[in-house]
Amino acid sequence: MTKKITNICCIGAGYVGGPTMSVIAQKCPDIKVTVVDLNQARIDAWNDPDTENIPVYEPGLDKVVAEARGRNLFFSTDVDKAIDEAEMIFISVNTPTKTYGSGKGMAADLKYIELCARQIARVSKTDKIVVEKSTLPVRTAEAVKSILLNTGNGVNYQILSNPEFLAEGTAIEDLHAPDRVLIGGDTTEEGQEAIQALVDVYARWVPRERILTTNLWSSELSKLTANAFLAQRVSSINSLSELCEHTGADVSEVARSIGTDSRIGPKFLKSSVGFGGSCFQKDILNLVYIARSYGLREVADYWEQVIIMNDHQKRRFANKIVKTLYNTVSGKKIAFLGWAFKKDTNDTRESAAIYVADDLLHEQAGIAVYDPKVPESQVYEDLNYLNSRPGDINKQLVTVITDPYEACKDAHAIAILTEWDEFKDYDWQRIFDNMKKPAFVFDGRTLLNVKQLREIGFKVYTIGRE
Ligand code: NAD
Ligand code: UGA
Repeated sequence: MTKKITNICCIGAGYVGGPTMSVIAQKCPDIKVTVVDLNQARIDAWNDPDTENIPVYEPGLDKVVAEARGRNLFFSTDVDKAIDEAEMIFISVNTPTKTYGSGKGMAADLKYIELCARQIARVSKTDKIVVEKSTLPVRTAEAVKSILLNTGNGVNYQILSNPEFLAEGTAIEDLHAPDRVLIGGDTTEEGQEAIQALVDVYARWVPRERILTTNLWSSELSKLTANAFLAQRVSSINSLSELCEHTGADVSEVARSIGTDSRIGPKFLKSSVGFGGSCFQKDILNLVYIARSYGLREVADYWEQVIIMNDHQKRRFANKIVKTLYNTVSGKKIAFLGWAFKKDTNDTRESAAIYVADDLLHEQAGIAVYDPKVPESQVYEDLNYLNSRPGDINKQLVTVITDPYEACKDAHAIAILTEWDEFKDYDWQRIFDNMKKPAFVFDGRTLLNVKQLREIGFKVYTIGRE
Protein backbone atom coordinates (compact mmCIF):
# COMPACT_ATOMS: atom_id res chain seq x y z
CA MET A 1 0.00 0.00 0.00
CA THR A 2 1.32 3.42 -0.93
CA LYS A 3 1.81 5.63 2.05
CA LYS A 4 -0.18 8.86 2.03
CA ILE A 5 2.09 11.83 2.53
CA THR A 6 1.02 14.31 5.23
CA ASN A 7 4.27 16.11 5.98
CA ILE A 8 6.73 17.52 3.45
CA CYS A 9 9.98 19.36 4.06
CA CYS A 10 11.88 21.25 1.39
CA ILE A 11 15.52 22.24 1.92
CA GLY A 12 16.24 25.45 0.01
CA ALA A 13 13.89 28.45 -0.04
CA GLY A 14 15.08 29.93 -3.32
CA TYR A 15 13.52 30.59 -6.71
CA VAL A 16 12.48 26.93 -7.00
CA GLY A 17 11.88 25.75 -3.43
CA GLY A 18 9.76 28.79 -2.50
CA PRO A 19 7.30 28.82 -5.41
CA THR A 20 7.01 25.01 -5.88
CA MET A 21 6.30 24.37 -2.23
CA SER A 22 3.87 27.28 -2.04
CA VAL A 23 1.86 25.72 -4.85
CA ILE A 24 1.99 22.21 -3.32
CA ALA A 25 0.74 23.71 -0.04
CA GLN A 26 -1.97 25.67 -1.86
CA LYS A 27 -3.22 22.58 -3.70
CA CYS A 28 -2.88 20.13 -0.79
CA PRO A 29 -4.24 21.86 2.33
CA ASP A 30 -4.02 18.59 4.28
CA ILE A 31 -0.25 18.31 3.79
CA LYS A 32 2.00 20.31 6.09
CA VAL A 33 4.77 21.84 3.99
CA THR A 34 7.82 23.37 5.68
CA VAL A 35 10.43 25.16 3.59
CA VAL A 36 13.77 25.51 5.34
CA ASP A 37 16.93 27.42 4.54
CA LEU A 38 20.17 28.36 6.28
CA ASN A 39 19.76 31.93 5.11
CA GLN A 40 17.93 33.68 7.96
CA ALA A 41 17.30 36.88 5.97
CA ARG A 42 15.66 34.89 3.19
CA ILE A 43 13.39 33.02 5.61
CA ASP A 44 12.49 36.28 7.36
CA ALA A 45 11.52 37.75 4.00
CA TRP A 46 9.33 34.71 3.21
CA ASN A 47 7.65 35.29 6.58
CA ASP A 48 7.16 39.03 6.06
CA PRO A 49 3.53 39.83 6.88
CA ASP A 50 3.41 41.97 3.74
CA THR A 51 3.61 39.44 0.89
CA GLU A 52 4.93 42.22 -1.36
CA ASN A 53 8.26 41.70 0.44
CA ILE A 54 8.75 37.98 -0.16
CA PRO A 55 12.22 37.41 -1.64
CA VAL A 56 11.18 36.09 -5.04
CA TYR A 57 9.23 38.30 -7.41
CA GLU A 58 6.86 36.17 -9.51
CA PRO A 59 3.47 37.30 -10.79
CA GLY A 60 0.77 35.65 -8.64
CA LEU A 61 3.15 34.17 -6.05
CA ASP A 62 2.19 36.65 -3.33
CA LYS A 63 -1.44 35.51 -3.51
CA VAL A 64 -0.51 31.82 -3.28
CA VAL A 65 1.70 32.52 -0.26
CA ALA A 66 -1.01 34.62 1.37
CA GLU A 67 -3.49 31.77 0.94
CA ALA A 68 -1.35 28.97 2.38
CA ARG A 69 1.18 30.53 4.73
CA GLY A 70 0.40 29.87 8.39
CA ARG A 71 -2.27 27.33 7.35
CA ASN A 72 -0.12 24.48 6.06
CA LEU A 73 2.86 26.36 4.60
CA PHE A 74 5.73 27.34 6.87
CA PHE A 75 9.16 28.90 6.36
CA SER A 76 11.85 28.19 8.93
CA THR A 77 15.58 27.94 9.60
CA ASP A 78 15.11 24.91 11.85
CA VAL A 79 16.29 22.39 9.27
CA ASP A 80 16.72 19.46 11.68
CA LYS A 81 13.19 19.72 13.03
CA ALA A 82 11.64 19.88 9.56
CA ILE A 83 13.66 16.86 8.38
CA ASP A 84 12.76 14.89 11.49
CA GLU A 85 9.02 15.47 11.06
CA ALA A 86 8.74 14.95 7.30
CA GLU A 87 7.91 11.79 5.39
CA MET A 88 9.08 13.32 2.14
CA ILE A 89 12.07 15.67 1.85
CA PHE A 90 12.73 17.74 -1.26
CA ILE A 91 16.27 18.94 -1.84
CA SER A 92 16.06 22.23 -3.71
CA VAL A 93 19.41 23.83 -2.98
CA ASN A 94 21.63 25.60 -5.49
CA THR A 95 23.95 23.58 -7.72
CA PRO A 96 26.17 26.28 -9.26
CA THR A 97 29.08 25.76 -11.63
CA LYS A 98 32.23 24.86 -9.69
CA THR A 99 34.59 27.79 -9.18
CA TYR A 100 37.55 25.76 -7.91
CA GLY A 101 39.43 22.49 -8.29
CA SER A 102 38.77 19.80 -10.83
CA GLY A 103 35.91 20.62 -13.18
CA LYS A 104 36.28 24.34 -12.35
CA GLY A 105 34.10 26.43 -14.66
CA MET A 106 32.26 23.37 -16.01
CA ALA A 107 31.03 20.80 -13.50
CA ALA A 108 28.15 21.36 -11.09
CA ASP A 109 29.23 22.00 -7.52
CA LEU A 110 27.41 19.37 -5.49
CA LYS A 111 28.67 20.32 -2.05
CA TYR A 112 25.30 21.71 -0.95
CA ILE A 113 23.56 18.55 -2.11
CA GLU A 114 25.98 16.39 -0.19
CA LEU A 115 25.57 18.53 2.95
CA CYS A 116 21.81 18.03 2.72
CA ALA A 117 22.18 14.27 2.30
CA ARG A 118 24.48 14.11 5.32
CA GLN A 119 22.12 16.21 7.41
CA ILE A 120 19.17 14.00 6.46
CA ALA A 121 21.24 10.92 7.33
CA ARG A 122 22.19 12.39 10.69
CA VAL A 123 18.76 13.57 11.74
CA SER A 124 16.31 10.96 10.40
CA LYS A 125 14.76 8.46 12.75
CA THR A 126 11.87 7.36 10.52
CA ASP A 127 11.74 6.21 6.87
CA LYS A 128 12.02 8.99 4.30
CA ILE A 129 11.44 9.59 0.64
CA VAL A 130 14.16 11.98 -0.51
CA VAL A 131 13.34 13.91 -3.67
CA GLU A 132 15.96 15.59 -5.84
CA LYS A 133 14.32 18.82 -6.95
CA SER A 134 17.59 20.58 -7.80
CA THR A 135 19.01 20.09 -11.28
CA LEU A 136 21.74 17.47 -11.00
CA PRO A 137 24.26 15.62 -13.12
CA VAL A 138 23.03 12.23 -14.22
CA ARG A 139 23.85 9.56 -11.59
CA THR A 140 23.88 11.98 -8.63
CA ALA A 141 21.22 9.85 -6.94
CA GLU A 142 23.86 7.17 -6.63
CA ALA A 143 25.98 9.41 -4.41
CA VAL A 144 22.95 10.58 -2.39
CA LYS A 145 21.93 6.96 -1.89
CA SER A 146 25.40 5.94 -0.84
CA ILE A 147 25.46 8.61 1.88
CA LEU A 148 21.97 7.82 3.13
CA LEU A 149 22.21 4.06 3.04
CA ASN A 150 25.48 3.86 4.92
CA THR A 151 24.33 5.50 8.11
CA GLY A 152 23.54 2.20 9.80
CA ASN A 153 20.65 3.70 11.79
CA GLY A 154 18.02 1.36 10.36
CA VAL A 155 16.12 4.09 8.48
CA ASN A 156 14.88 3.15 4.97
CA TYR A 157 15.31 5.71 2.23
CA GLN A 158 13.91 5.95 -1.24
CA ILE A 159 15.46 8.46 -3.62
CA LEU A 160 13.36 10.10 -6.33
CA SER A 161 14.32 12.54 -9.04
CA ASN A 162 11.66 15.18 -9.68
CA PRO A 163 13.32 17.96 -11.67
CA GLU A 164 11.57 21.30 -11.96
CA PHE A 165 10.71 22.80 -15.35
CA LEU A 166 9.21 26.14 -14.28
CA ALA A 167 10.54 29.26 -15.96
CA GLU A 168 11.00 32.41 -13.95
CA GLY A 169 8.45 35.11 -14.60
CA THR A 170 5.78 32.48 -15.30
CA ALA A 171 6.53 30.16 -12.36
CA ILE A 172 3.02 30.13 -10.94
CA GLU A 173 1.34 29.49 -14.30
CA ASP A 174 3.89 26.76 -15.00
CA LEU A 175 3.34 25.14 -11.62
CA HIS A 176 -0.45 25.34 -11.82
CA ALA A 177 -0.58 23.85 -15.31
CA PRO A 178 2.70 22.12 -16.11
CA ASP A 179 3.30 20.57 -19.55
CA ARG A 180 4.45 17.58 -17.56
CA VAL A 181 5.73 16.52 -14.17
CA LEU A 182 8.65 14.10 -14.28
CA ILE A 183 9.32 11.59 -11.53
CA GLY A 184 12.17 9.09 -11.67
CA GLY A 185 12.74 6.34 -9.15
CA ASP A 186 14.06 2.85 -8.56
CA THR A 187 12.47 0.04 -10.52
CA THR A 188 12.09 -2.03 -7.33
CA GLU A 189 8.72 -2.43 -5.64
CA GLU A 190 9.72 0.05 -2.92
CA GLY A 191 10.93 2.47 -5.57
CA GLN A 192 7.62 2.24 -7.41
CA GLU A 193 5.71 2.85 -4.18
CA ALA A 194 7.75 5.96 -3.52
CA ILE A 195 7.03 7.18 -7.05
CA GLN A 196 3.33 6.56 -6.47
CA ALA A 197 3.40 8.58 -3.23
CA LEU A 198 4.72 11.60 -5.13
CA VAL A 199 2.40 11.01 -8.09
CA ASP A 200 -0.49 11.16 -5.61
CA VAL A 201 0.65 14.60 -4.43
CA TYR A 202 0.78 16.09 -7.94
CA ALA A 203 -2.34 14.27 -9.12
CA ARG A 204 -4.41 16.60 -6.89
CA TRP A 205 -4.16 19.20 -9.64
CA VAL A 206 -2.11 17.82 -12.54
CA PRO A 207 -3.90 15.52 -15.01
CA ARG A 208 -2.53 11.99 -14.53
CA GLU A 209 -1.40 11.65 -18.16
CA ARG A 210 0.90 14.63 -17.64
CA ILE A 211 2.77 12.92 -14.82
CA LEU A 212 5.58 10.94 -16.41
CA THR A 213 7.49 8.29 -14.52
CA THR A 214 10.89 6.94 -15.52
CA ASN A 215 13.96 5.39 -13.98
CA LEU A 216 16.23 7.67 -11.95
CA TRP A 217 18.88 8.23 -14.59
CA SER A 218 16.44 9.11 -17.37
CA SER A 219 14.81 11.67 -15.11
CA GLU A 220 18.11 13.27 -14.06
CA LEU A 221 19.36 13.41 -17.64
CA SER A 222 16.04 14.65 -19.07
CA LYS A 223 16.33 17.85 -17.06
CA LEU A 224 19.77 18.71 -18.45
CA THR A 225 18.55 17.70 -21.91
CA ALA A 226 15.45 19.90 -21.76
CA ASN A 227 17.50 22.96 -20.85
CA ALA A 228 20.10 22.15 -23.49
CA PHE A 229 17.42 21.88 -26.21
CA LEU A 230 15.75 25.13 -25.15
CA ALA A 231 19.03 27.05 -25.04
CA GLN A 232 20.05 25.51 -28.34
CA ARG A 233 16.96 26.99 -30.01
CA VAL A 234 17.89 30.44 -28.74
CA SER A 235 21.49 30.06 -29.94
CA SER A 236 20.27 28.73 -33.28
CA ILE A 237 18.02 31.71 -33.96
CA ASN A 238 20.66 34.09 -32.59
CA SER A 239 23.27 32.66 -34.95
CA LEU A 240 20.92 33.44 -37.82
CA SER A 241 20.23 36.94 -36.51
CA GLU A 242 23.77 37.86 -37.46
CA LEU A 243 23.32 36.45 -40.94
CA CYS A 244 20.05 38.41 -41.25
CA GLU A 245 21.88 41.64 -40.48
CA HIS A 246 24.16 40.98 -43.45
CA THR A 247 21.56 39.85 -45.93
CA GLY A 248 18.44 41.97 -45.49
CA ALA A 249 16.43 39.11 -44.03
CA ASP A 250 14.56 39.96 -40.80
CA VAL A 251 15.07 37.44 -38.01
CA SER A 252 11.54 37.95 -36.64
CA GLU A 253 10.12 37.12 -40.07
CA VAL A 254 12.39 34.10 -40.37
CA ALA A 255 11.32 32.91 -36.91
CA ARG A 256 7.65 33.30 -37.81
CA SER A 257 8.16 31.52 -41.10
CA ILE A 258 9.83 28.48 -39.60
CA GLY A 259 7.77 28.49 -36.39
CA THR A 260 4.54 27.83 -38.25
CA ASP A 261 5.93 24.44 -39.26
CA SER A 262 4.27 22.27 -36.63
CA ARG A 263 7.39 20.14 -36.40
CA ILE A 264 9.45 23.17 -35.39
CA GLY A 265 6.85 25.11 -33.41
CA PRO A 266 6.77 28.84 -32.62
CA LYS A 267 8.17 28.99 -29.08
CA PHE A 268 11.70 29.87 -28.05
CA LEU A 269 12.61 31.43 -31.37
CA LYS A 270 12.93 35.00 -30.17
CA SER A 271 16.26 36.43 -31.10
CA SER A 272 17.90 38.35 -28.29
CA VAL A 273 21.07 39.83 -26.90
CA GLY A 274 21.74 36.33 -25.55
CA PHE A 275 20.13 34.03 -23.05
CA GLY A 276 20.81 34.51 -19.35
CA GLY A 277 19.47 33.05 -16.15
CA SER A 278 21.00 30.85 -13.55
CA CYS A 279 20.50 27.58 -15.37
CA PHE A 280 20.97 27.39 -19.15
CA GLN A 281 24.70 28.03 -19.13
CA LYS A 282 25.32 26.10 -15.92
CA ASP A 283 23.40 23.06 -17.11
CA ILE A 284 24.96 22.95 -20.57
CA LEU A 285 28.46 23.32 -19.14
CA ASN A 286 27.60 20.46 -16.86
CA LEU A 287 26.35 18.36 -19.77
CA VAL A 288 29.54 19.10 -21.69
CA TYR A 289 31.61 18.15 -18.66
CA ILE A 290 29.75 14.87 -18.19
CA ALA A 291 30.12 13.96 -21.88
CA ARG A 292 33.86 14.74 -21.72
CA SER A 293 34.24 12.67 -18.58
CA TYR A 294 32.89 9.68 -20.54
CA GLY A 295 35.32 10.49 -23.37
CA LEU A 296 32.52 11.60 -25.72
CA ARG A 297 34.36 14.44 -27.44
CA GLU A 298 31.95 15.03 -30.32
CA VAL A 299 28.95 15.10 -27.99
CA ALA A 300 30.69 17.58 -25.69
CA ASP A 301 31.81 19.84 -28.56
CA TYR A 302 28.34 19.82 -30.07
CA TRP A 303 26.67 21.21 -26.95
CA GLU A 304 29.51 23.55 -26.07
CA GLN A 305 28.80 25.41 -29.29
CA VAL A 306 25.49 26.62 -27.78
CA ILE A 307 27.46 28.50 -25.13
CA ILE A 308 30.07 29.77 -27.57
CA MET A 309 27.32 31.23 -29.77
CA ASN A 310 25.64 32.84 -26.76
CA ASP A 311 28.87 34.51 -25.63
CA HIS A 312 29.38 35.75 -29.18
CA GLN A 313 25.88 37.23 -29.27
CA LYS A 314 26.41 39.23 -26.08
CA ARG A 315 29.81 40.46 -27.19
CA ARG A 316 28.73 41.47 -30.65
CA PHE A 317 25.86 43.55 -29.22
CA ALA A 318 28.37 45.54 -27.13
CA ASN A 319 30.69 45.84 -30.14
CA LYS A 320 27.84 47.09 -32.26
CA ILE A 321 27.19 49.90 -29.78
CA VAL A 322 30.85 50.95 -29.73
CA LYS A 323 31.22 50.78 -33.49
CA THR A 324 28.03 52.73 -34.16
CA LEU A 325 28.96 55.44 -31.68
CA TYR A 326 31.91 56.35 -33.92
CA ASN A 327 34.22 53.76 -32.36
CA THR A 328 34.36 55.38 -28.98
CA VAL A 329 32.08 55.34 -25.98
CA SER A 330 34.65 56.72 -23.57
CA GLY A 331 32.96 59.31 -21.37
CA LYS A 332 29.63 58.84 -23.14
CA LYS A 333 26.42 58.04 -21.31
CA ILE A 334 24.63 54.86 -22.33
CA ALA A 335 21.24 54.18 -20.75
CA PHE A 336 20.41 50.53 -20.06
CA LEU A 337 16.71 49.75 -19.98
CA GLY A 338 16.53 46.44 -18.14
CA TRP A 339 19.02 44.50 -16.07
CA ALA A 340 17.08 41.29 -15.21
CA PHE A 341 17.77 38.25 -17.42
CA LYS A 342 14.16 38.34 -18.69
CA LYS A 343 10.99 40.26 -17.92
CA ASP A 344 8.78 39.72 -14.88
CA THR A 345 11.57 38.61 -12.58
CA ASN A 346 13.97 40.35 -10.22
CA ASP A 347 16.57 37.66 -10.94
CA THR A 348 19.75 38.89 -12.62
CA ARG A 349 21.89 35.77 -12.53
CA GLU A 350 23.92 35.48 -15.76
CA SER A 351 21.88 38.28 -17.30
CA ALA A 352 23.23 39.39 -20.69
CA ALA A 353 23.09 42.98 -19.36
CA ILE A 354 25.97 42.27 -16.98
CA TYR A 355 28.30 41.17 -19.77
CA VAL A 356 27.31 43.91 -22.19
CA ALA A 357 27.89 46.46 -19.42
CA ASP A 358 31.26 44.95 -18.60
CA ASP A 359 32.39 45.21 -22.23
CA LEU A 360 31.27 48.83 -22.42
CA LEU A 361 32.96 49.66 -19.12
CA HIS A 362 36.21 48.31 -20.56
CA GLU A 363 35.72 51.05 -23.14
CA GLN A 364 35.21 53.58 -20.33
CA ALA A 365 31.55 54.22 -21.05
CA GLY A 366 29.28 55.67 -18.39
CA ILE A 367 26.17 53.54 -17.86
CA ALA A 368 22.83 54.53 -16.33
CA VAL A 369 20.72 51.50 -15.47
CA TYR A 370 16.97 51.42 -15.02
CA ASP A 371 15.13 48.18 -14.21
CA PRO A 372 11.66 48.11 -12.66
CA LYS A 373 12.48 45.26 -10.27
CA VAL A 374 16.24 45.11 -9.72
CA PRO A 375 17.66 47.08 -6.78
CA GLU A 376 20.78 49.22 -7.07
CA SER A 377 22.85 46.99 -4.80
CA GLN A 378 22.27 43.99 -7.08
CA VAL A 379 23.65 45.80 -10.14
CA TYR A 380 26.92 46.56 -8.34
CA GLU A 381 27.08 43.08 -6.88
CA ASP A 382 26.74 41.56 -10.36
CA LEU A 383 29.47 43.76 -11.81
CA ASN A 384 31.83 43.35 -8.87
CA TYR A 385 31.43 39.57 -9.09
CA LEU A 386 33.14 39.64 -12.49
CA ASN A 387 36.22 41.12 -10.86
CA SER A 388 37.03 43.13 -13.99
CA ARG A 389 37.91 46.32 -12.10
CA PRO A 390 37.78 47.67 -8.54
CA GLY A 391 34.28 48.12 -7.10
CA ASP A 392 34.74 51.86 -6.66
CA ILE A 393 35.37 52.22 -10.41
CA ASN A 394 32.14 50.35 -11.14
CA LYS A 395 30.41 52.75 -8.77
CA GLN A 396 31.96 55.70 -10.52
CA LEU A 397 31.02 54.59 -14.03
CA VAL A 398 27.60 53.05 -13.37
CA THR A 399 24.58 54.75 -11.85
CA VAL A 400 21.31 53.03 -11.07
CA ILE A 401 18.30 55.26 -11.51
CA THR A 402 14.71 54.61 -10.51
CA ASP A 403 13.14 56.85 -13.16
CA PRO A 404 13.55 55.68 -16.78
CA TYR A 405 13.26 59.19 -18.21
CA GLU A 406 16.00 60.37 -15.89
CA ALA A 407 18.15 57.37 -16.89
CA CYS A 408 17.83 58.31 -20.56
CA LYS A 409 18.37 62.05 -20.06
CA ASP A 410 21.47 63.34 -21.88
CA ALA A 411 22.34 59.81 -23.00
CA HIS A 412 24.09 59.22 -26.31
CA ALA A 413 22.39 55.87 -26.68
CA ILE A 414 19.79 53.59 -25.11
CA ALA A 415 20.24 49.84 -24.98
CA ILE A 416 17.26 47.55 -24.38
CA LEU A 417 18.52 44.58 -22.41
CA THR A 418 15.30 43.15 -20.95
CA GLU A 419 11.91 42.89 -22.64
CA TRP A 420 9.86 44.58 -19.89
CA ASP A 421 6.43 45.48 -21.34
CA GLU A 422 6.47 48.99 -19.87
CA PHE A 423 9.33 50.03 -22.20
CA LYS A 424 6.96 49.83 -25.16
CA ASP A 425 4.60 52.40 -23.66
CA TYR A 426 7.11 55.10 -22.77
CA ASP A 427 6.80 58.60 -24.17
CA TRP A 428 9.57 58.08 -26.70
CA GLN A 429 9.25 61.62 -28.05
CA ARG A 430 10.01 62.98 -24.58
CA ILE A 431 12.98 60.62 -24.27
CA PHE A 432 14.28 61.71 -27.68
CA ASP A 433 13.97 65.40 -26.85
CA ASN A 434 16.18 64.99 -23.78
CA MET A 435 18.94 62.93 -25.40
CA LYS A 436 22.19 63.89 -27.09
CA LYS A 437 21.94 63.84 -30.90
CA PRO A 438 22.12 61.78 -32.93
CA ALA A 439 20.04 59.70 -30.50
CA PHE A 440 20.66 55.97 -30.83
CA VAL A 441 18.56 53.02 -29.68
CA PHE A 442 20.03 49.51 -29.63
CA ASP A 443 17.17 47.08 -29.20
CA GLY A 444 18.55 43.78 -27.93
CA ARG A 445 15.08 42.29 -27.57
CA THR A 446 13.33 43.25 -30.82
CA LEU A 447 10.84 44.91 -28.50
CA LEU A 448 10.23 48.42 -29.75
CA ASN A 449 8.34 49.79 -32.71
CA VAL A 450 11.19 50.68 -35.06
CA LYS A 451 9.05 52.63 -37.50
CA GLN A 452 7.67 54.87 -34.78
CA LEU A 453 11.12 55.47 -33.29
CA ARG A 454 12.59 56.35 -36.69
CA GLU A 455 9.76 58.80 -37.32
CA ILE A 456 10.64 60.54 -34.07
CA GLY A 457 14.24 60.80 -35.24
CA PHE A 458 16.03 57.98 -33.46
CA LYS A 459 18.74 55.98 -35.16
CA VAL A 460 17.70 52.41 -34.39
CA TYR A 461 19.59 49.12 -34.42
CA THR A 462 17.57 45.96 -33.78
CA ILE A 463 19.08 42.52 -33.41
CA GLY A 464 18.56 40.52 -36.59
CA ARG A 465 17.65 43.38 -38.93
CA GLU A 466 19.78 45.10 -41.49
P1 NAD B 1 18.60 29.57 -5.10
O1 NAD B 1 20.02 29.92 -4.95
O2 NAD B 1 17.59 30.64 -5.36
O3 NAD B 1 18.10 28.81 -3.78
C1 NAD B 1 18.81 27.80 -3.14
C2 NAD B 1 18.68 27.97 -1.64
O4 NAD B 1 19.24 26.84 -0.98
C3 NAD B 1 19.42 29.19 -1.07
O5 NAD B 1 18.49 30.04 -0.42
C4 NAD B 1 20.44 28.59 -0.09
O6 NAD B 1 20.63 29.37 1.07
C5 NAD B 1 19.79 27.27 0.25
N1 NAD B 1 20.73 26.26 0.76
C6 NAD B 1 21.91 25.85 0.21
N2 NAD B 1 22.45 24.88 0.94
C7 NAD B 1 21.62 24.65 1.98
C8 NAD B 1 21.63 23.74 3.06
N3 NAD B 1 22.62 22.86 3.22
N4 NAD B 1 20.61 23.78 3.93
C9 NAD B 1 19.60 24.66 3.78
N5 NAD B 1 19.52 25.53 2.76
C10 NAD B 1 20.52 25.53 1.87
O7 NAD B 1 18.52 28.46 -6.23
P2 NAD B 1 17.27 28.12 -7.19
O8 NAD B 1 17.22 29.07 -8.33
O9 NAD B 1 16.07 27.93 -6.34
O10 NAD B 1 17.75 26.73 -7.79
C11 NAD B 1 17.77 25.56 -7.00
C12 NAD B 1 17.96 24.36 -7.91
O11 NAD B 1 16.86 24.26 -8.82
C13 NAD B 1 19.21 24.42 -8.79
O12 NAD B 1 19.72 23.12 -8.93
C14 NAD B 1 18.67 24.89 -10.13
O13 NAD B 1 19.45 24.43 -11.19
C15 NAD B 1 17.31 24.25 -10.18
N6 NAD B 1 16.31 24.94 -10.99
C16 NAD B 1 16.20 26.30 -10.96
C17 NAD B 1 15.21 26.93 -11.71
C18 NAD B 1 15.04 28.42 -11.69
O14 NAD B 1 14.22 28.91 -12.43
N7 NAD B 1 15.75 29.17 -10.88
C19 NAD B 1 14.29 26.17 -12.44
C20 NAD B 1 14.44 24.78 -12.45
C21 NAD B 1 15.45 24.18 -11.71
C1 UGA C 1 14.57 27.96 -18.13
C2 UGA C 1 13.62 26.91 -18.72
O1 UGA C 1 12.72 27.57 -19.64
C3 UGA C 1 12.83 26.21 -17.63
O2 UGA C 1 12.03 25.18 -18.19
C4 UGA C 1 13.80 25.60 -16.62
O3 UGA C 1 13.09 25.02 -15.54
C5 UGA C 1 14.72 26.69 -16.08
O4 UGA C 1 15.41 27.32 -17.19
C6 UGA C 1 15.77 26.19 -15.17
O5 UGA C 1 16.12 25.02 -15.19
O6 UGA C 1 16.27 27.04 -14.44
P1 UGA C 1 14.32 30.43 -17.20
O7 UGA C 1 15.80 30.46 -17.31
O8 UGA C 1 13.70 30.85 -15.93
O9 UGA C 1 13.77 28.95 -17.50
O10 UGA C 1 13.69 31.35 -18.35
P2 UGA C 1 13.51 31.16 -19.92
O11 UGA C 1 12.19 31.68 -20.29
O12 UGA C 1 13.84 29.80 -20.37
O13 UGA C 1 14.58 32.17 -20.51
C7 UGA C 1 15.97 31.92 -20.41
C8 UGA C 1 16.74 32.97 -21.18
O14 UGA C 1 16.56 32.76 -22.59
C9 UGA C 1 16.29 34.39 -20.92
O15 UGA C 1 17.40 35.24 -20.87
C10 UGA C 1 15.42 34.72 -22.10
O16 UGA C 1 15.35 36.09 -22.37
C11 UGA C 1 16.12 33.96 -23.20
N1 UGA C 1 15.25 33.63 -24.35
C12 UGA C 1 14.22 32.78 -24.18
C13 UGA C 1 15.50 34.19 -25.58
O17 UGA C 1 16.46 34.96 -25.74
N2 UGA C 1 14.69 33.87 -26.63
C14 UGA C 1 13.64 33.02 -26.49
O18 UGA C 1 12.94 32.76 -27.49
C15 UGA C 1 13.40 32.46 -25.23
